[in-house]
Amino acid sequence: MKIQLRSPEETKTLGQRIAKLLHPGDVITLEGQLGAGKTTFTKGIASGLEVKRHITSPTFTIVKEYRGKMPLYHMDVYRLEDSLEDIGFDEYFHGNGVSVVEWAGFIEPFLPENRLDISIQYTDNEDIREIDLYPRGSHFEQVVNELHG
Ligand SMILES: Nc1ncnc2c1ncn2[C@@H]1O[C@H](COP(=O)(O)OP(=O)(O)OP(=O)(O)O)[C@@H](O)[C@H]1O
Ligand SMILES: [Mg+2]
Repeated sequence: MKIQLRSPEETKTLGQRIAKLLHPGDVITLEGQLGAGKTTFTKGIASGLEVKRHITSPTFTIVKEYRGKMPLYHMDVYRLEDSLEDIGFDEYFHGNGVSVVEWAGFIEPFLPENRLDISIQYTDNEDIREIDLYPRGSHFEQVVNELHG
């Protein structure tokens, strides 16, 4: 499913809507070039999970944990690049919270089979992004279907 996001606010709103459909242990992966909007989208997820704290980019910490309706584990694994270091991903992916992973391709072998893969792309217009949702597994297919309604 491909959606046009015409402003950072629209990107956050989509994140917020998706967050309302998530369960503990759900994993969302985010791909997209530098500045595509991965963290912006994650801010929307956080807002949908009723996280009160300000979301910052976790580049130097890899994982930041936020308290909300359920925990949010915000990861940016860009720094791991090809090192394939396992920092205990399973604890997060099978934990009680929602994991959102920027640059998830770098840790592909550690990702669970069931997840929502999201790709954000630039367009010719500097304020417009295109987002692709690839649900893996029936739960995420249902999440994506519910977004239509
Ligand atoms: N439609 C849009 N959706 C999201 N962000 C947008 C949009 N239009 C413009 N922007 C701007 O693009 C930037 C996206 O930055 P953001 O930090 O979210 O990207 P990122 O993908 O997380 O980058 P990085 O790879 O460095 O982590 C912000 O400055 C935001 O205001
Ligand atoms: Mg980011």
